[in-house]
Amino acid sequence: MKHLLPPLPYGPAALEPHIDARTMMLHHDKHHASYVANLNSALEEFPALQERTAIWLLLNLGKLPEKIRMAVRHNAGGHVNHSLFWRAMSPTGGGAPTGRLADAIERDFGGLAQFKARFDDAGVKLFGSGWVWLARAQQDGGRLEVYTTSGHDHPMMQGHFPLLVNDVWEHAYYLKHENRRAEYLHGWWSVVNWQEAAARFERSDHGAEDNWESEGGALLEATTRS
Ligand SMILES: [Fe+2]
Repeated sequence: MKHLLPPLPYGPAALEPHIDARTMMLHHDKHHASYVANLNSALEEFPALQERTAIWLLLNLGKLPEKIRMAVRHNAGGHVNHSLFWRAMSPTGGGAPTGRLADAIERDFGGLAQFKARFDDAGVKLFGSGWVWLARAQQDGGRLEVYTTSGHDHPMMQGHFPLLVNDVWEHAYYLKHENRRAEYLHGWWSVVNWQEAAARFERSDHGAEDNWESEGGALLEATTRS
């Protein structure tokens, strides 16, 4: 089985004006595609590993041959994170979360405005390339936290279940916003997909790790079978 690039869940211009169509096309069709191609190429000599989901590979890096460990970390991470990122946005996004996720944001951050400020601040301060997340801790009563990862590392690698993610690599915003990362982060709230975050919050309730493992399997099997 080979990993395949999942299609964008909307057209490349659908998130305009907040994210421009050219950025979306390059980001999905070139950047994300190259992570998928590089992951397949790293696994070429290892048929047994080709049966594994990208999330399994990320969570079991120590079991991989050393010569491909770093390539898998970068490229399986790039594949998994971008797959989540496309779904974290929607042309009908924006607004505010409702229900239990809204209650949890109130409880753990003091309100939506405070959460957004924390998220934007973490995104601005993240040095170099990486990701900013709303994640749920597996320990500590399942508290919500703003969390960042460098490169393409994924929160589950350190026991945090991702609910929402924004890409703060320069390739995500530089064509439109140039060096103004804060402006990009601010505009992103207009396309944020709270429904997806709320669905992930519900899923994270019961044995997040097992769920995430099987979810990763389901997500990536759907995209690995041609
Ligand atoms: Fe990206």
